[in-house]
This record gives sequence, C-alpha cells and structure tokens, in this order.
Amino acid sequence: MNNFTFHNPTKIIFGKGTIPKLKDELSIDQKVLLLYGGGSIKKNGVYEQVMQALSGYDIVEFGGIESNPQYATCMKAVQVVKNESIDFLLSIGGGSALDATKFIAAAALYESGDPWNFMNDWDSIKSALPLGCVLTLPATGSEANPNAVISRAETGEKLAFINAHVFPQFSILDPETTFSLPERQIANGVVDAFVHVMEQYMTYPVNAPLQDRFAESILITLIEEGPKALQNPRDYDTRANIVWAATLALNLLIGVGVPQDWQTHVIGHELTALYGIDHARTLSIILPAVLKHQRRSKDDKLVQYAQRVWGAREKDREKLIDIAIERTVGFFKQMGAPTSLGDARLTFDDVPKVAPTLEKRGANLGEHGDIGAKEIAEILQMAATA
Ligand code: NZQ
Ligand code: ZN
Repeated sequence: MNNFTFHNPTKIIFGKGTIPKLKDELSIDQKVLLLYGGGSIKKNGVYEQVMQALSGYDIVEFGGIESNPQYATCMKAVQVVKNESIDFLLSIGGGSALDATKFIAAAALYESGDPWNFMNDWDSIKSALPLGCVLTLPATGSEANPNAVISRAETGEKLAFINAHVFPQFSILDPETTFSLPERQIANGVVDAFVHVMEQYMTYPVNAPLQDRFAESILITLIEEGPKALQNPRDYDTRANIVWAATLALNLLIGVGVPQDWQTHVIGHELTALYGIDHARTLSIILPAVLKHQRRSKDDKLVQYAQRVWGAREKDREKLIDIAIERTVGFFKQMGAPTSLGDARLTFDDVPKVAPTLEKRGANLGEHGDIGAKEIAEILQMAATA
C-alpha cells in the first residue's frame, strides 16, 4: 500500500427530514447566500423547506446556476458576495450548484489576480468563504470532497480544481429530495458514482485489500440499487442507499494508498466542453473503450472485478476480462446510458478536437501516466461503436 494522508472535515447529516437541522449549523448572525440551479428546488419543495428552516436569518439568493457551471455565472455571484458582505454560502441542488459554490467561495477571497488562474494553480488558493450544502442529486460526491469542475465557454475549457479550503463544512443528504429526479438524472448519478469508484479501483494491485473491498461493495450496491431506483422511484431505502454510495464513492476514502486513473473523466470533460454531452454520459461512452484499450495493463484488476463484482466463475483469464467489460457495458445499458459515441449519434470524425486539446495541456493520463494524444485517439476510435 502507498503512503497517504486522509483528512475529511465535512459533517454529513443524513436522512429523512433533516433539512431543519440547517439552523444547528448556521449562526443567526451569519449573512447567508443561497445558491441554486435552474429551479428544480422550487418545484419539489426543497426551497420551501430551506426557507422555513432559516426563517429569521439574513438571506440573499443567487439562482440560475447551469449544469456544468460557467465561470461567467460564478463571477456574477462573486460580485453579489462582495456587494452584500456575505459570510456563508449555502448550495441547494446537485453537483453543479455545489461546484459553482466552491469556486465562488475561493474566488471571493482570491488575491492573485483573475480567479480563473487558480484552475491551473490550485495551491494559489489560500482561503475560502465557509460553505455547506443541501444535496438533491446523488452523483458527484462533491458534498464530501474538496473538488469542483468549472467550464469556461469563451475558451471551450472544462477544468477541475482541488483545494482543501473548499470542503463543505456540512452536507445535508435527505434522500427524499431525490424523489423528483427525472430518469435521466437518476441514471446519470448512478453511472457517475460507479465510474468514480472504477477510477480509483481499476488500475493494478498494490496489496490494499480493504480499499479493494470498499470499492467492490460500492460497485455491487450501485449495480443492485440503480435499476431499482428507475423501476420504483419513490422507494426511500433504494434512494438512501444510492445517496450514501455516491458520497462514499468520492469522499477520498476508497482512493487512499492506491493508484488512481481518472483518464475516463479527463477525456469525458473534453466531450462535455466541446460537444455538450452530459458528464455521466461521457463516462459511460469512454470507460468501456478504456477497459478494452488497456485490457493488458489492467488485467489483474479486470479479472478480480469479474470474479468479485460480477461473480464470474470461468477459469480462463481472457474470458474473465471479456466478461468484466461486457457486464460493465450491460449495466450502463440497463441504466439507459449510452455506451458508444454511436449511441450519442456521433462518430469518431465528429470528435477531432479531443486528443489535440488534451495534448496541448500536456496530458499524460492513466495510472502509469502513459496515455497521451495517440492513445486518446485510439480510445475514441474504440468508443465509436459499442
Ligand atoms: O438546475 P436545477 O433546476 O436544479 O436542475 C438540475 C439539473 O437540471 C436537476 N436536478 C438536481 N436535483 C434535482 C433535479 N431535478 C429534479 N429533482 C431534483 N432533486 O438535475 C440536472 C443536473 O444537475 P447537476 O447539478 O448539473 O448534475 P450533477 O450533480 O450530476 O453535477 C454535474 C457536474 O458535476 C461535475 C460535472 O463535471 C458536472 O459539471 N462533477 C463534479 C465532481 C466533484 N465536484 O467532485 C466530480 C464529478 O466527476 C463531476 O465531474
Ligand atoms: Zn464524475
């Protein structure tokens, strides 16, 4: 096992009817900015619950944060934070509202020029306003991690940053808030969480059986619960299991002391930035191609995954690897997610900018750092058809 430091300061408040606990986390003399997306919270009762919990507080609102949140939108919110002398940022919604909130929290106190600079220089963030969230979409794990992903339309970029100052102080996870999710977002969330685990698991063994079993248990839970949420959207226990699985998939725990990959995410972010495909749908398109492309270098883990996650009993290693890839594709299809560029009505020739853009950024992807522009083009070629 590799050396590591693990520190996760986010308080998780989980369960039915937990939104009123907001008042235990916020002091009445803090001026709070509520940040949210396109309005789902006003249709499903979450906004009302928050306003009721915070009645008597000094509250300012900033709505309209788009999916794949934009730098320009975040900068408008930074202005509100400054004009209104805001003390605390409260995100209500999915990963996009929360990632934007993290950017705004850091940008509001940034002293090294244009806040976009910190997207390429994470350590230049020296402080951030405190933030918390009421999460309504289990997917990103943003509710318990220091990561955020922000897009910039003028430059066609979609970049991640990681900095411990933007860990949420608390996250309220009430699975009932997820009842109103449309099928596509249920599927997106399950697929995103699944791929987060795969990015930290599907590499090579380093004799870390506990991390492996954590990862496998989350994968099995998502495989069992994901289809149930599509069939019976108002089943509380199913939703609760998915919410907790998605949080644990990316709260940093399962990735400590083990190699990590993240090439599916980096390539996927380009597909979103350049062609507007939903985040999770880029992952279900790219991951199967990555597994096919790297079936040699990931062979030990592919065999273990076929046996432990999919229960395959075959003796032949090549057959087990085939099963690992086929079952992964089958699960994504069961969730209604695309598994090839073709499923998203695209061909290899439609995505010519991905490999050169990543090359310009000096991409050396994968757990061995050996996936460059040539390999990315090969992966996209493999992703063209299922
Ligand atoms: O904007 P509103 O009206 O709220 O509607 C949203 C949006 O249209 C809707 N929604 C959310 N909760 C709902 C709901 N609709 C009905 N009922 C509810 N309870 O769902 C749509 C998608 O929301 P969004 O927040 O965009 O989705 P998600 O949580 O999947 O976040 C995606 C973003 O997170 C980034 C992605 O790249 C993308 O930008 N990621 C962030 C990560 C992190 N911070 O650690 C890691 C991930 O890998 C990912 O890259
Ligand atoms: Zn993701």
